[in-house]
Amino acid sequence: MQDKVISGALFHAPESGRIEAMARAAVAVDADGVIAAVECAGTPEFDALVAGARADGRLVELAEGSVLMPGLVDLHIHAPQWPQIGKALDEPLEVWLQKYTFPLEARYADVDFARRVYRDLVGSLLAHGTTTAVYFATTHVEASLALAEICLDEGQRAFVGKVAMDDPDQCPGYYRDADAAVALADTRAFIDRVRGLAGDGDALVRPIITPRFIPSCTDELLAGLGKLAAETGCLVQTHCSESDWERDFVMARHGRTDSEVLRDFGLLREHTVLAHSNFVTDGDLSLIREKGAAVAHCPLSNFYFANAVFPLRRALDMGVRTGLGTDISGGHSPSVLDGCRHALSAARARASGVEADLPAGERGAGGPAVTVAEALWLATAGGGEALGLPVGKFAPGFHFDAVLVDTCRPASPLKVWEGLDTIEETAAKIVLNATRDDIAKVWVRGRAVGPNAG
Ligand code: GUN
Ligand code: FE
Repeated sequence: MQDKVISGALFHAPESGRIEAMARAAVAVDADGVIAAVECAGTPEFDALVAGARADGRLVELAEGSVLMPGLVDLHIHAPQWPQIGKALDEPLEVWLQKYTFPLEARYADVDFARRVYRDLVGSLLAHGTTTAVYFATTHVEASLALAEICLDEGQRAFVGKVAMDDPDQCPGYYRDADAAVALADTRAFIDRVRGLAGDGDALVRPIITPRFIPSCTDELLAGLGKLAAETGCLVQTHCSESDWERDFVMARHGRTDSEVLRDFGLLREHTVLAHSNFVTDGDLSLIREKGAAVAHCPLSNFYFANAVFPLRRALDMGVRTGLGTDISGGHSPSVLDGCRHALSAARARASGVEADLPAGERGAGGPAVTVAEALWLATAGGGEALGLPVGKFAPGFHFDAVLVDTCRPASPLKVWEGLDTIEETAAKIVLNATRDDIAKVWVRGRAVGPNAG
């Protein structure tokens, strides 16, 4: 049963590297928020769809100058680090964790504090167009559950992970799971409680198994979480091959790469989300692809913590599932569109190099960089494919998770000039220039959500 038909300008990237833009189209959305049909103006199917919807009052006509695009997917974000966004980026990863981040995350033992932060965060992300988020929470079951409840209440599609970290050599006494057995029992309890949330029959919000990263977990915990993933079918997320320090730590402890260790513990599974993965070898990328796992590329955070940038071009060419993550607060922007921009700059820096003293031919890795169409795909359908969710494009069977961009707002860097900009160029301008204030409306599963929902 069709619920409504939305008619106006739209664009999406149905596959990597291709933007499809239509100056006028109609999207039929059913009562469950699933897209039933997409028709382009100028066809008999479009005329019939629009005429039928108009006749029974189900037609929603978008204003002139408004453009619809798919909702954005943030594959990697630390919800408890929201109060820390925009500060404390003066230390390398291993110092930053101990000095700033673990003390902040420990505060989420206080569930009221957690609720205050998480409510603000989820509202802000929706306002930025993030319709799906894959969250690291903290070690605390109650506060992590509060995040899941808030996502459900606000209508944001989410994977929420209670963080597992038990190794006393790497995790401070004031902030860690007591031991592997407690971490496993708490993770199991968290999964059951998220799956049992009232009013979420369609699993808009799901639990995700979340070993923080190999250095903070004992082998016993990693093995137990691998078994739990197989038993429950939950997706897995973790950090992988992020920095020199982290890669060397894992190599010294296990004599294998992060990806190989995760495989051996049963954690490298279909749709496992590997944040960063900057130091992956070609062998690791093949392994990740073979397992059907995915990389959450976090370009802004790479510049602060990685001492390197993820080989995005290589991963795309190899067909490795990839999307974008903000990595708040290792990244200081909540906007996945900003993530597109940073991914484009990072790929250019990798390809062209940055050291002006070197001859051009010796400066960078060479080869093409990454295109705007590829960046858009990463932020939408690529993220959806990483998670195995039918989101990120306008196609029958996909959920109507969408963002409406107003291109007519005064004093915005987003400007569309009549007679100068085609709908394809408008799409590129939106990816590169749209700000939070240009986002007029956001839908998840056909339902208006976020601050402008009313
Ligand atoms: N590795 C382990 N924990 C973290 C974290 O909180 N942020 C980032 N960027 N990397 C990590
Ligand atoms: Fe992270």
